[in-house]
Amino acid sequence: MEVGFLGLGIMGKAMSMNLLRHGFKVTVWNRTLSKSHELVEHGASVAETPAEVVRKCKYTIAMLSDPSAALSVVFGKDGILEQICAGKSYVDMSTVDADTSSKINEAIKERGGYFLEAPVSGSKKPAEDGQLVILAAGEKALYEEVIPAFNVMGKKSFYLGQVGNGAKMKLVVNMIMGSMMNAFSEGLVLAGRSGLEPSVLLDVLDLGGIANPMFRLKGPTMIQGSHSPAFPLKHQQKDMRLALALGDETATSMPVAAAANEAFKKARSMGLGDLDFSAVYETVKTLEEPSRNSQLR
Ligand SMILES: NC(=O)c1ccc[n+]([C@@H]2O[C@H](COP(=O)([O-])OP(=O)(O)OC[C@H]3O[C@@H](n4cnc5c(N)ncnc54)[C@H](OP(=O)(O)O)[C@@H]3O)[C@@H](O)[C@H]2O)c1
Repeated sequence: MEVGFLGLGIMGKAMSMNLLRHGFKVTVWNRTLSKSHELVEHGASVAETPAEVVRKCKYTIAMLSDPSAALSVVFGKDGILEQICAGKSYVDMSTVDADTSSKINEAIKERGGYFLEAPVSGSKKPAEDGQLVILAAGEKALYEEVIPAFNVMGKKSFYLGQVGNGAKMKLVVNMIMGSMMNAFSEGLVLAGRSGLEPSVLLDVLDLGGIANPMFRLKGPTMIQGSHSPAFPLKHQQKDMRLALALGDETATSMPVAAAANEAFKKARSMGLGDLDFSAVYETVKTLEEPSRNSQLR
């Protein structure tokens, strides 16, 4: 199967590498060309524009940062729309809102192409290990055609019906995750300030009913103050913002998520947006510790 892949950030690089490893022929494009070099060493071809990828490949997959990137790659100069036509398909795996996905779907359908949204649950390591959870919605026949690629990138794929449902599911999941990360950060700080050993808190949590892989994976590095990006904080804040907008649309009161969003915004204002979303821990610490605040700046 020959596929195109647009967007070689943390996730896109790992996902396209997996496709190559499993024998797919992959043509890549990334706004910053240098990020394609490693993929080329592993057998990928490079295209100069998203349009060129679509011209070459029947299936094009994208993994881009946010709604504005997703829209510009489709509607912009040398974008997807310039080459999409009957017989060609586009699968957007970026985390965006349902409106963005619907706009892309309508434009592609108008030109006779097929569209699937397929955001993923899972982070850098699951992407590297082909263990993502794929939340697809849109053209059912296309979903079935790209299952071989999904099976390489993920451990489980869900088909959720009409376009927008994948985006909504993903935003609900990340809204919960962002709120959990804030509660976890506050717990670690509270334990430390109360004379308890945060690492012992991790052991206690891990044996109880709220044990989970995120606490287990991130806890030890958070305590060390290390936040090497697996899921950049700026993207988590984007997801909180989009989930809160979904809450507006559906008149769903979400005070916990709103507070978590404020903490992520605070972290961005402190220049922590490119670190892992666990860096929100630093915000919780800083809010109560002015001397540390000046150190971080
Ligand atoms: N990291 C995770 O754990 C994770 C997990 C699940 C879902 N996601 C979602 O997956 C998507 C990608 O995440 P990531 O962690 O891989 O992000 P990333 O490392 O920041 O990569 C973002 C990608 O988008 C490209 N991009 C940004 N703006 C663009 C524009 N205007 N035009 C064209 N390309 C543009 C970047 O190109 P350049 O290289 O040129 O900047 C890069 O290839 C996001 O929607 C994120 O929310 C991430």
